[in-house]
Amino acid sequence: MKILLATQKPFAASAVAGIREIAEGAGHEVVLLEKYAEQSDLVAAVADADAMIIRSDKVTAEVLDAAKKLKIVVRAGAGYDNVDLAAATAHGVVVMNTPGQNSNAVAELALAMMIFMARNQFTPATGSELLGKRLGVQAYGNVGRLVGQKAKALGMEISALDPFLTDEQISSAGADPVHSVEELYSTSDYLSIHIPALPSTIGSIGYDLITKMPKGATLVNTARKEVIDEAGLEKALEERPDLKYVTDVAPDNLAVLKEKFGLRVFATPKKMGAQTSEANVNAGLAAARQIVGFFATGCTRFQVNK
Ligand code: 3PG
Repeated sequence: MKILLATQKPFAASAVAGIREIAEGAGHEVVLLEKYAEQSDLVAAVADADAMIIRSDKVTAEVLDAAKKLKIVVRAGAGYDNVDLAAATAHGVVVMNTPGQNSNAVAELALAMMIFMARNQFTPATGSELLGKRLGVQAYGNVGRLVGQKAKALGMEISALDPFLTDEQISSAGADPVHSVEELYSTSDYLSIHIPALPSTIGSIGYDLITKMPKGATLVNTARKEVIDEAGLEKALEERPDLKYVTDVAPDNLAVLKEKFGLRVFATPKKMGAQTSEANVNAGLAAARQIVGFFATGCTRFQVNK
């Protein structure tokens, strides 16, 4: 089978080598499409692929229409909002993710971002410490829990909101359970977002929630830019000069935010949460193994379009 490894943002060489070893060891061929300039490059490359490994690459209906032989797409990572699931299902294509495999990298970045903002982006102005501050974690899944555990080791108090977990599950994973998003925002000195981009979450974090945050609070977004109502964020930062926003997913209005709010806002130049060689190897090799297993035994564990 031909496996297309399509990564606009390439994996570390060690991950590519590992993917090749697993796939070729099982008798498959790996074709590499990295750093492609246009979506049409992906559409062309997928024409004769039986399987595809992607990152945040956009698997649209157009891509799926062009992929006449495609049977499986594995998103090497957690969020699969970049895949048109309905179109994939209509084409009989199985879609999987690799949950948990890049979580530590994202969690470490979230922590780093908190310290970076607490220390005024490493400028000499007097900063503050994380010790004793309360961190609210919005969604206590693979990444959220790691952020909570690491923050606890730094002496922070942890609150978590997760509608899919019981209070007991949240407590036993080290956080104080919170039952509403309003309560979470109004009690958190740092708020780390880990919700997926869904119709119900897109634009859900805006002026009303952000202005509920306590004095001097920092909002940390390593999830998806779509969950933020950007106009509401701008208005909140305008009215509350004590608030800060740090994000791994640059908002569309970043230039305006930077101009208006200076060191109170920071965005990475390119999404880098999962961009460590360890995360690339973990997610990439898991994706390769899932494809090999799918073709060998029909295993559909981790399928997200059932
Ligand atoms: C994910 O959903 O796994 C992360 O956002 C990482 O995305 P990336 O593979 O494009 O860096």
